[in-house]
Amino acid sequence: MANQKISRPLLLFAATLSLFLLPSSAQLRQNFYANICPNVESIVRDAVTQKFRQTFTTAPATLRLFFHDCAVNVSFLSPSLSLSPPQGCDASVIIASTPGNTAEKDNPDNLSLAGDGFDTVIKAKAAVDAVPQCRNKVSCADILAMAARDVVALAGGPSYAVELGRLDGLSSTAASVDGKLPLPSFSLDQLTASFAAMGLSQTDVIALSGAHTIGFSHCNRFAGRIYDFRGRAGSVDPTLNSSYAAQLQAECPRNVDPSIAIQMDPVTPHTFDNQYYRNLQARQGLFTSDQALQEDARSRPLVDAWARNPALFNRAFVTSMTRLGRVGVKTRPAQGNIRRDCSVLN
Ligand code: HEM
Ligand SMILES: *[C@@H]1O[C@H](CO)[C@@H](O)[C@H](O)[C@H]1NC(C)=O
Ligand SMILES: *[C@@H]1O[C@H](CO)[C@@H](O)[C@H](O)[C@H]1NC(C)=O
Ligand SMILES: *[C@@H]1O[C@H](CO)[C@@H](O)[C@H](O)[C@H]1NC(C)=O
Repeated sequence: MANQKISRPLLLFAATLSLFLLPSSAQLRQNFYANICPNVESIVRDAVTQKFRQTFTTAPATLRLFFHDCAVNVSFLSPSLSLSPPQGCDASVIIASTPGNTAEKDNPDNLSLAGDGFDTVIKAKAAVDAVPQCRNKVSCADILAMAARDVVALAGGPSYAVELGRLDGLSSTAASVDGKLPLPSFSLDQLTASFAAMGLSQTDVIALSGAHTIGFSHCNRFAGRIYDFRGRAGSVDPTLNSSYAAQLQAECPRNVDPSIAIQMDPVTPHTFDNQYYRNLQARQGLFTSDQALQEDARSRPLVDAWARNPALFNRAFVTSMTRLGRVGVKTRPAQGNIRRDCSVLN
């Protein structure tokens, strides 16, 4: 009896801890909504296609939003507590800030997520909820995962069966983003460590960086490579192709309007293809973190393989997107819910 009295609180403590620390036993699966909302994938695809036809930015904005959603961690106990559960792909990035809470997306580190990504999810959610059987039955996290799959295909990339069954997260704080996202200044080791924190591999780093085959970057994200590199006046990053450096200097003059953004793939900016890796071979990677994949002997073999063989890259990208989509997912009712409005906690 005495024994039990001592161990009960301990057991409770251990059980609570394990909720946070055990790797999620969560299982996603394809066709998760087959009986709940049978046409959900075509409903989402139609809404995303309509938005994509209005603006190409839909594709990069939605793809990047998915990455940021999955890559961010929140402590819903207290932001100061280090014991934070993996936040993962739970649509917490879509939550709008309120007077009492600065949400993830308004962390200065949100690196200027384009509004079109949020808009895509909101529109697809409206289309899903317009079907009575589907109303409030499909999570915003799954809608974002489907939309990310759809924009890759719409931009000319591979299509794939997407795993579903995520619940939406119950919190979103700007503090949770701090230090979680990889920076464009990162070396291969730093990129690998940052992906390892999500349970992802160096191969995932190299494959998912291929997403930079579409989309835009603001000038300040790489200005340090084209002006006064490492503080030396007038110097340019020696791993940057000199004609490309000149082109970047023309597009991004010193003290340029901070809202100016340029295309990340200078060759086929509107096509999801393997040109990203060919650019790296020509030393036309935009960020230090991009070019590092070519400069570092450990990652170069995959860069070369995927530059040569688009089908090989497509397969690797799909595998890594699927792995990214599993990061920290919540499937138990205690962990999450299905949001009525993707930008507001229920
Ligand atoms: C490997 C580490 C990564 C770093 C350091 C990185 C960094 C960046 C930066 C600095 C930008 C420019 C943002 C701006 O100025 O507006 C950007 C854009 C973008 N990133 Fe990444 N990123 C990484 C991985 C990824 C991954 C894994 C994906 C998706 C699978 C992704 C998809 C995108 C897309 C599509 C854009 C263009 C966004 C737009 O046009 O609105 N990135 N990234
Ligand atoms: C989130 O936090 C947990 C627990 O501290 C940690 O194990 C995990 O690696 C973190 N994930 C990310 C993406 O930072
Ligand atoms: C990102 O953060 C900045 C600064 O915190 C904020 O002004 C901006 O509106 C945010 N972007 C989005 C899309 O929420
Ligand atoms: C620089 O880019 C040009 C194409 O714009 C290419 O012909 C050349 O080989 C590249 N230089 C290097 C060192 O890769």
